[in-house]
Amino acid sequence: MIASMNPAAVLVLAAGKSTRMKSRTPKFMHEIGGLSLLGHVVRSARALEPTYLAVVVGHGRDQVVPHLAQLDEGAQPVVQEEQRGTGHAVRTALEALPALDGTVVVTYADVPLLPVETLRQLLEGHRQAGAAATVLSAVVPDPSGYGRILRDEKGVSGIVEHKDATPEQAAIAEINSGIYAFDARLLTDALGRVKADNSQGEEYLTDVLGILREDGHTVSAVVAGDYQDILGVNDQLQLAELRRILNDRILAHWMRSGVTVVDPATTWVDTTVTLEPDATIHPNTQLRGTTTVAAGTQIGPDTTLIDTRIGADAQVIRTHGEGAQVGAGATVGPFAYLRPGTRLDAGGKIGTFVETKNAEIGPGAKVPHLTYVGDATIGEGTNIGAGTIFANYDGVAKHHTHVGSHSFVGSDSVLVAPRQIADGAYVAAGSTVVKDVEPGELAVARGQQRNIAGWVARKRAGTRTAEAAARAVDASGGTPAEPGGPPDGPPRDTGSVEDVPGRSGQ
Ligand code: UD1
Ligand code: CA
Repeated sequence: MIASMNPAAVLVLAAGKSTRMKSRTPKFMHEIGGLSLLGHVVRSARALEPTYLAVVVGHGRDQVVPHLAQLDEGAQPVVQEEQRGTGHAVRTALEALPALDGTVVVTYADVPLLPVETLRQLLEGHRQAGAAATVLSAVVPDPSGYGRILRDEKGVSGIVEHKDATPEQAAIAEINSGIYAFDARLLTDALGRVKADNSQGEEYLTDVLGILREDGHTVSAVVAGDYQDILGVNDQLQLAELRRILNDRILAHWMRSGVTVVDPATTWVDTTVTLEPDATIHPNTQLRGTTTVAAGTQIGPDTTLIDTRIGADAQVIRTHGEGAQVGAGATVGPFAYLRPGTRLDAGGKIGTFVETKNAEIGPGAKVPHLTYVGDATIGEGTNIGAGTIFANYDGVAKHHTHVGSHSFVGSDSVLVAPRQIADGAYVAAGSTVVKDVEPGELAVARGQQRNIAGWVARKRAGTRTAEAAARAVDASGGTPAEPGGPPDGPPRDTGSVEDVPGRSGQ
């Protein structure tokens, strides 16, 4: 039973010129919801599991054919050299395929919102009516431009194009979506008899319906429950309208499944994204590509995630992420840039003004502020101080740096790759690290500090700074240190790391 519903072929018409788009990109390749218009249509067509899936191409086919190959390897492009009408397009496709037996579905590449369920209703209605042809119709607020469905007591008697309609026919609100199910053999036969004797001089596919009726066959219509399913794209305004409708449908789907969308008007989610219940999406957030967001997360505001995976209960605030993975309970942002190959493990942190690329950051590790982590692994529980740079590029090649577990890199350090900082190691703040650091070592790589006593009094006499220094010395009851300062000795401390927790940033 199910198998008999599978059509022999789905034919997608995509040969027309998209003049009104005023774009170098063929209309069918413009994107909504993360997929081209053609992509949406081919996806629904494929879901019907037809024996053949053919796409009639013409204008812009240099771009459309390779694009189609990427979308669906099994889809067959058929070239229609001259666009001599929808009937001619279908005839061209049928001539390119072996003789078909069964049902042929015809649809348009610029009607992207048509759900596969509606196509199935069309097929089911077609089967139940035992029809030679069944048209998917819709009752629309403004029928102008569309073909009108002509009905009589026996069903559908024909379709008349807007340009050929009488005023009475033009008043009909039930329109032809341009999507049909046909008996393959009867369609082929009727197409041979279609003439181009109309106002546009084209072979109208719609004429097939009248021909089949005159032959004594049944022609029926299935009315789409939601007329928005059959809306087409002819210009940039309609492209934006349909994008909005699609987005509303996607958000409605996720909200019904338990996702909180704080501001649907500024939240954009691709059809290819997956969200779990109790994720909260804050305003101005775009979730694109293969992004997945687990339960209990907070995403946004002002966040774009492309092909990124967010684990349960994570928080991602004001972030741009692409090709990244964020573990359960981790926090990102505000103002973070996650580039491809970023993996932040459970409970970790990528904080403010941090950029990461090919960076694996272990469980509970923290990179809280002003840091670039490129081509690096960072072990569990390690803290990377504010302003640390993983210098991965020597001008020719990229190199990797490894920082072990429970280590501590002081603020304003440069780790020059390739570099190994062991487990349980320290790097003093302000170090430029060009030698590996072993377990338990502290690396200090910076000029030593000299304090020159009395310098302000001598060199900045009469300034407010000098006055403040004098007051401070008086108040402490001390005497100013000897000019010239203390002799150089070993550094009294090694930076931020020994006795002041958090000096490298928390
Ligand atoms: C067609 C229908 C009309 C229907 C409307 C719905 C006919 C004669 N009319 O009108 O009843 O209400 O669609 O949108 O069928 N195409 C080709 N090759 C061609 C001609 C068209 O591939 O030679 C493709 C176009 O790229 C487009 C689709 O077929 O995707 C529809 O063609 P178009 O000329 O826009 O048909 P309409 O005049 O809109
Ligand atoms: Ca059209």
